[in-house]
Amino acid sequence: MTAIPDLKLNDGHTIPQLGYGTYQVPPAETAGAVRAALQTGYRHIDTAEMYDNEAGVGEGVRASGLARDDVYITSKLSNGAHLPDDARRAFDGTLQALGMDYVDLFLIHWPMVLSYSGDFVSTWKVLQEFKADGRARSIGVSNFRVEDLERLLAETDVAPAVNQIEAHPYFNNDALRAFGGEHGILTEAWSPLAQGAVLDEPAPVRIAERLGRTTSQGVLRWHVQRGDIVFPKTISSERMRENLSVYDFELGPDDLATLATIDRGPQGRTGPHPDTFDYKPA
Ligand SMILES: NC(=O)c1ccc[n+]([C@@H]2O[C@H](COP(=O)([O-])OP(=O)(O)OC[C@H]3O[C@@H](n4cnc5c(N)ncnc54)[C@H](OP(=O)(O)O)[C@@H]3O)[C@@H](O)[C@H]2O)c1
Repeated sequence: MTAIPDLKLNDGHTIPQLGYGTYQVPPAETAGAVRAALQTGYRHIDTAEMYDNEAGVGEGVRASGLARDDVYITSKLSNGAHLPDDARRAFDGTLQALGMDYVDLFLIHWPMVLSYSGDFVSTWKVLQEFKADGRARSIGVSNFRVEDLERLLAETDVAPAVNQIEAHPYFNNDALRAFGGEHGILTEAWSPLAQGAVLDEPAPVRIAERLGRTTSQGVLRWHVQRGDIVFPKTISSERMRENLSVYDFELGPDDLATLATIDRGPQGRTGPHPDTFDYKPA
């Protein structure tokens, strides 16, 4: 297995480009899955308060025997906790659930433009407190649109280190990625395999066969060649290993051109749209 490169964030910290995603990893299975991922070679775990598995992530890290500093941990603010005191309490809860005294990266999970009338700017200022007191080494956002990033850049002094957004060959999301690139905001591509849907698509299947790789490896290679950060989710340790081996081959210009033809634009989304995604209390 070739080493996973670290990418430099706009605040001087670095992040492993390829990690392990834990959305829909059941809470009771998370500690085992995270431990397996770390034993396989992953050093970056993506979780969120809303995944209900932060405690399992912390347990998995401790069970791995790795030092805390050797693992990069991202978590995210719950959609129901945007108001400043709620956000502070939620962040305390995240650290407590993880059993850690800091996270490497903490994100606003969704801008919640309907529920909070776009007042994520005040939420973003609260995340800056977590960075200032060292409990979040880096801070960023998720599911922010160009207009949302423009507000943060215009109304605060701190640019997000990353924007975690849906992106995969069915939905390239290139305009938003390009805006991030122009402002030093790295893109993290969520659902990099379109939740598995793109793995049956003929074009990536053919390209992977020609290269002697699996389709998942071909698609993940496409992401890392675009310079994005990815964290595919799988519960299988065999697939964990497979998904990690994407740094010892390359897609050529023809492969990239072929993959560009399966982009469906916004129709290719597998998850919610930030324009319409709203908070529904349980
Ligand atoms: N910020 C956000 O709003 C947001 C939203 C969604 C996701 N995320 C993050 O992004 C991560 C990844 O996205 P995702 O979990 O939605 O989807 P994904 O990683 O695109 O796809 C996961 C699916 O692909 C399958 N899979 C994985 N590797 C495979 C392989 N090598 N061969 C065949 N099938 C494979 C998995 O099945 P098995 O488990 O059965 O192997 C699972 O069904 C999440 O876990 C989460 O951390 C963030």
